[in-house]
Amino acid sequence: MSDPRLYVALDLPSIEQAREMVRRLGDSVVSYKVGLQLLPLGGAEFGRELAAMGKNVFLDFKLHDIDATVEKATRSIAGVGADLLTVHARPDVMRAAARGKGDKLKVLGVTVLTSLDEQALIDIGYHHTAEELVLHRVRQAIEAGIDGVVSSPLEAAKIRAMVPKDFLVVTPGVRMAGHDAGDQKRIATPYDAFKSGASHIVVGRPVTQANDPRASADKIVADMARL
Ligand code: C5P
Repeated sequence: MSDPRLYVALDLPSIEQAREMVRRLGDSVVSYKVGLQLLPLGGAEFGRELAAMGKNVFLDFKLHDIDATVEKATRSIAGVGADLLTVHARPDVMRAAARGKGDKLKVLGVTVLTSLDEQALIDIGYHHTAEELVLHRVRQAIEAGIDGVVSSPLEAAKIRAMVPKDFLVVTPGVRMAGHDAGDQKRIATPYDAFKSGASHIVVGRPVTQANDPRASADKIVADMARL
């Protein structure tokens, strides 16, 4: 049993270890997220390999550069066969990614990094609360023509209320009840994340660090199926 709405984050030190994790998870997981840790080690090529295996591929590369560069980078990533790509949710960056994405790749805006608290936002020079900034950027993401955003599950309901039905709301920070939260502060269970309006969830360590990753993934999928 698998569910394509569950993306397992392959935050592992090497491509070899990521490949081994995919092998262990077998047909229990069909969607994977490859992030910045693997990018310099061949993460994009590994994405191509996963796509060739029939997996859904989320390249969490958080692009942020001048328009022309973002557009061309997005086009290159679309060529890998990825399904999802993240860019920082600045209007110019999102518009450039929308131009480069082609037919299959969907682009997600990273609204406000969950590691930033109110003081950190002031230090950067923003004079909004994190929530105001998230909702402002969601509006800008829709205007820019990208496909969705990454958000905390705790903001998903407010976002869902203001976006078109097919807009993607992808939430990390998901934990099964009673499990170690690790460094994630704003968490929800898989069931609650979908109930709040998430379209997809991202789960890393609760699967990849488990003694039995496959059993852990199966439990998450079972929790999603309660909805
Ligand atoms: O191990 P864990 O389930 O906490 O992994 C969550 C994944 O989602 C990690 O790859 C992390 O980088 C990513 N992420 C996050 N919070 C964000 C954006 C991305 O936890 N705001």
